[in-house]
Amino acid sequence: MAIMSKKTVEDVNVQGKKVLVRVDFNVPMDKDSGMITDDKRIRGALPTIQYLLDQQAKVILVSHLGRPKNGPEDKFSMKPVAERLTELLDQPVILAQDVIGEDAKTKAAALKDGEVLMLENVRFHSEETKNDPAFARELADLAEIYVNDAFGTAHRAHASTAGVANFLPGAMGFLIEKELNVMGKALNDPARPFVAILGGAKVSDKIGVIDNLLDKVDTLLIGGGMAYTFLKAQGQEIGLSLCEEDKLELAKTLLDKAQEKGVELLLPVDSVVADQFSAEATPEVVTDIPSDRLAMDIGPESVKQYAAKVAEAKTVVWNGPMGVFEFPAFAEGTRAVAKAVAESDAISIIGGGDSAAAIEVLGFADQVTHISTGGGASLEFLEGKVLPGIDALLDKNPRRIFAAGNWKMNQGVPSEAVAFLKALKPVVADAKATVAVGVPFTVIDAALKETAYSNINVAAENCHFEDKGAYTGEVSAKMLAYMGVPYCIIGHSERREYFAETDETVNKKARALLNWGVRPIICCGESLDQREEGVHFDFIKSQIIGAFKDIPEEKLYLITIAYEPIWAIGTGKTATDEQAEEICAFIRGVMADLYSEEAAQALRIQYGGSVNAKNVAGLFGMENIDGGLVGGASLKTVDFGIICNTYQG
Ligand code: PGA
Repeated sequence: MAIMSKKTVEDVNVQGKKVLVRVDFNVPMDKDSGMITDDKRIRGALPTIQYLLDQQAKVILVSHLGRPKNGPEDKFSMKPVAERLTELLDQPVILAQDVIGEDAKTKAAALKDGEVLMLENVRFHSEETKNDPAFARELADLAEIYVNDAFGTAHRAHASTAGVANFLPGAMGFLIEKELNVMGKALNDPARPFVAILGGAKVSDKIGVIDNLLDKVDTLLIGGGMAYTFLKAQGQEIGLSLCEEDKLELAKTLLDKAQEKGVELLLPVDSVVADQFSAEATPEVVTDIPSDRLAMDIGPESVKQYAAKVAEAKTVVWNGPMGVFEFPAFAEGTRAVAKAVAESDAISIIGGGDSAAAIEVLGFADQVTHISTGGGASLEFLEGKVLPGIDALLDKNPRRIFAAGNWKMNQGVPSEAVAFLKALKPVVADAKATVAVGVPFTVIDAALKETAYSNINVAAENCHFEDKGAYTGEVSAKMLAYMGVPYCIIGHSERREYFAETDETVNKKARALLNWGVRPIICCGESLDQREEGVHFDFIKSQIIGAFKDIPEEKLYLITIAYEPIWAIGTGKTATDEQAEEICAFIRGVMADLYSEEAAQALRIQYGGSVNAKNVAGLFGMENIDGGLVGGASLKTVDFGIICNTYQG
């Protein structure tokens, strides 16, 4: 995965603005007293909150707390959190009685510069975890800007972590920025040797991480219960130790991959075993595990080898304990590895809840570079997955190249679409461009599933502007939103020609999409006759003016314009770089007149019409062309791969 270059809170103007901040205030509480037992997560968000207050922003905080199942419940109220935050900020924190209800709305509206409002627990609404677009819109309506600083939930596509960014321009807070900087650097540009230590009970939890890290690290040290599935895969006796029989083949594949990649992979050479899984069991150190014993920890010789590798490292990533460290008799492997990590001069990153807890309990927390605040999120980040809560935020470069395929009425059989996307994923995984595929309605569901957590976005190719009604055969923008479709192509020349689409319907569709948080790709372009008659500038201008009627400037960040001369579509006849550039520059000028120079400069304009692997570099290199809408060539994995990978950032 390419490092996602996203705007931070410092890149957006928050002065005096209403800013909705998603924080992770899911703090542990004492069941009986309801007191917060550890306020680290609250303190973690203070730099962002303080920065916003210094900018005189009106701060609206939203978080989840625990897992309320049936709506509002006192024991999951944010009240104690608001009280604790009041102390930490040394200023009052206003608590709303609800999340998007009357009280929240009234209090948000009345908020003054430099004041803080805390909404009630966002999970009082089941729409939160469903990423319900209407709920996300209501949350967004409370504010003007969105900031995500909840790294712990960044791997979830929920309404307050991702959906809201489809309605408000979003930036990341300092906590997320720090997480990404440290972990992103380690993964993409590590000081070497780069050593990863992976532990934990199950291989199945770590397959993705191992697979991804094998492409990055010099040495991989494996401990914990999962080590024994690997040892068995190598043909060793592991007695009663944990083994995932159904993962043996996979373990072999991963061992082979390590060899292929020249990654040194170490497994325990000795183990601490017991005759039962119990804190009271008597520990014994063995090199060969007897048939009536199970491994509970790595042994002293393994510790020595692992510590030596850590000592040589310049970057260390550690995730997962080496043994059953909750039982003191079997905690030594984990403790010794923690100590080695703490004592090394390397950049050291602890990801995942268990290893973070281990390093804290063992007292080494101050001696490591970074302890990730997100268990699941850090794991998914190490797996190379795209985190929805970060992906949804504004790109640092608003005109980052956008390579979008338009399959048209092709590959509409789900199995075809899935096979194509499976093959495409690795080819574009490191693309620095935004990547999307426009697909037929019949495969949207399959495409969304296949591309989840990847950098491939799904686009619909059309929608209807009404939410529902007697429109046989149509699919509304609302329906697309509820499927979780992020983009929709509208006004394609084929739709204008064969399906009577007009500037007016394009405009209605654009507004419907924006209303539901789906990002429109609006097509325009002249015919050959119009070009030959010399009326193409006027024609395109009228298309743009028509399409953007009543669309406010603050929504433009969600919109892409695709300039597609009809004479170049599917004909093999591309506009020259200069012809394409001329019109894209012209469109930008029209948008500057309609809105502002600033808005026009930030707008993404694609060129479309016979874009292919050969002409893409010239086209994407032009000043005013910010990507392509690609038909024919997007149906070929290799060609579309080249198109997506052309942009170098
Ligand atoms: P083409 O199609 O690349 O096959 O010319 C472009 C489009 O219609 O979007």
